[in-house]
Amino acid sequence: MSDLEQPTPDRHERFRGDHPIVVKGLKTQFGEHVVHEDLSLTVNRGEIIGVVGGSGTGKSVLMRAIIGLQTPTEGEIEVFGRSITRAEPDEQIGVRSRWGVLFQGGALFSTLTVGENVEVPLKQFYPDIDDELRREIARYKVILSGLPEDAASKYPSELSGGMKKRAGLARALALDPELLFLDEPTAGLDPIGAAKFDQLTRELKETLGLTVFLITHDLDTLYEICDRVAVLADQKVIAVGTIPELLETDHPWIDEYFNGPRGRAAQASKERAKYMDKRAQDGA
Ligand SMILES: Nc1ncnc2c1ncn2[C@@H]1O[C@H](COP(=O)(O)OP(=O)(O)OP(=O)(O)O)[C@@H](O)[C@H]1O
Ligand SMILES: [Mg+2]
Repeated sequence: MSDLEQPTPDRHERFRGDHPIVVKGLKTQFGEHVVHEDLSLTVNRGEIIGVVGGSGTGKSVLMRAIIGLQTPTEGEIEVFGRSITRAEPDEQIGVRSRWGVLFQGGALFSTLTVGENVEVPLKQFYPDIDDELRREIARYKVILSGLPEDAASKYPSELSGGMKKRAGLARALALDPELLFLDEPTAGLDPIGAAKFDQLTRELKETLGLTVFLITHDLDTLYEICDRVAVLADQKVIAVGTIPELLETDHPWIDEYFNGPRGRAAQASKERAKYMDKRAQDGA
């Protein structure tokens, strides 16, 4: 077979099922330390699912397990209807090109420019694309992520924290993913920067038809852009649903989280925004 006849892994088939991520009975353990035990979670296609839980409850580890970077001790994980846990590494390649990941902390290559960072996954999965087209695609993703065009030629050390997040997002979008994983994307951003990033996430989800797995501690993000929220505690997903649904569960951690002072402030700000929208619509 010539190079041109090599099948492009899975690009033609977009996932049409209802649940792009299904985790069943997951156990993750490091030595004696059990992080997850019998954890299950089903993600709906087209939603932004917020994942919350105390520090160290295993949110990032769960994300790593879903993208195949962390082998579970027990359980089954399916992404786009395919087993991640049982797939051979070369079988995973097709699936890997269909998601994008923004890791906690960004993880940009410091010796590459922003544009070159975005080119890394393109080179990896589409080595045949010529240099000029690859640069052009990378530049487009940089702009899509809300950065000025000249940011493509800057090094990560020349960017602010918020710009670094956007650069990480540009790299996560490099392969036109169907599924986007964001691990604490607004941590460390000022409230205005965080709100803008939230807005961008929501717009990208809507225009690109993404499903978003969003780990966050940011209550405003949960109220503003998440369709459902999954709560990690006691080594499991103890509840998943809309915020009003979660508030009905009566779990002490959930109650404390959403009804504590910060939770109430986020809720009040959401209600205020809704009120202002309504007034604007009513022409008041
Ligand atoms: N490679 C590893 N080896 C050993 N232990 C690990 C490893 N990765 C994570 N852990 C442990 O697993 C637990 C869960 O870690 P994880 O990073 O998923 O927490 P988290 O919920 O994302 O927390 P945070 O909100 O602070 O980011 C922690 O106790 C951590 O120390
Ligand atoms: Mg984490």
